[in-house]
Amino acid sequence: MKVIAITGKGGTGKTAVAGMLIKHITKGNKALLAIDADPDSNLPDVLGVKIDKTIGDMREFMLQERDKMPPDTNKERVLESKVYEVLTEMPHYDLLVMGRPEGSGCYCFANNLLRGIMDRILKNYDLTIIDTAAGLEHLSRRIIRDVDELLVVTDGSRRGLQTAERIRGLAVSLNLNVKKMHVIANKVTPENRARIEEYARELKMDLVGVVPFDETLARFDLEGRPLAELPEDSAAMRGVGEIAKRMGLY
Ligand SMILES: Nc1ncnc2c1ncn2[C@@H]1O[C@H](COP(=O)(O)OP(=O)(O)OP(=O)(O)O)[C@@H](O)[C@H]1O
Ligand SMILES: [Mg+2]
Repeated sequence: MKVIAITGKGGTGKTAVAGMLIKHITKGNKALLAIDADPDSNLPDVLGVKIDKTIGDMREFMLQERDKMPPDTNKERVLESKVYEVLTEMPHYDLLVMGRPEGSGCYCFANNLLRGIMDRILKNYDLTIIDTAAGLEHLSRRIIRDVDELLVVTDGSRRGLQTAERIRGLAVSLNLNVKKMHVIANKVTPENRARIEEYARELKMDLVGVVPFDETLARFDLEGRPLAELPEDSAAMRGVGEIAKRMGLY
């Protein structure tokens, strides 16, 4: 059971990388769970999967209904079955969407239950890939408690790599127990590749791979086509494939 969270600055390509990574991992035979932890969720679109309900909807349901339930109801069991209802089963992986954040009510009760439920669900899989919103703060609510590895997606700039360094510090201060952190430079052009590799060395970052800027990907995105359907020989798909192999993910 390994949990990898994909993080980084806004717009660097976290979701695109997550989608392509998931596509490669499904070539192996790992039991795979994909989690979209961005409230503004778009991993389902990148994967070409339609989603009806989210964990957030189920949390709202519990808050609305819990006072109407008979006092001897096992509320954790009720919520757990609701969470399984929103788990989308694809042929080669399962997908969970966390959905919107809490409103103004008191959500401690539901979140406390969710923590235990998520711990148990994650145990059913060899590998969990989490696409997150920019930054790591939202993980601090700690519904997903243990992240083994952080995969920081950065664009090909020095600032992007400095953000990666900030994220490293944030992970420590949030006590996320992260065992490893890798950096992926995305949207890399032939002109800036060498410089990025040099910056990464200077900052002592484990640059696990670079993903080229890919015109085909940009076109798919513009046309609203799922990036997971990119041809295997497209530059970005190949770049992410090498990374997946290097990380032993399939
Ligand atoms: N390798 C690439 N080549 C070309 N375009 C790319 C590449 N990777 C990502 N993009 C484009 O960059 C934009 C942002 O990508 P994406 O949504 O994956 O970023 P994100 O980090 O998940 O953003 P957010 O912080 O909003 O969640 C998209 O338009 C996407 O198509
Ligand atoms: Mg995203």
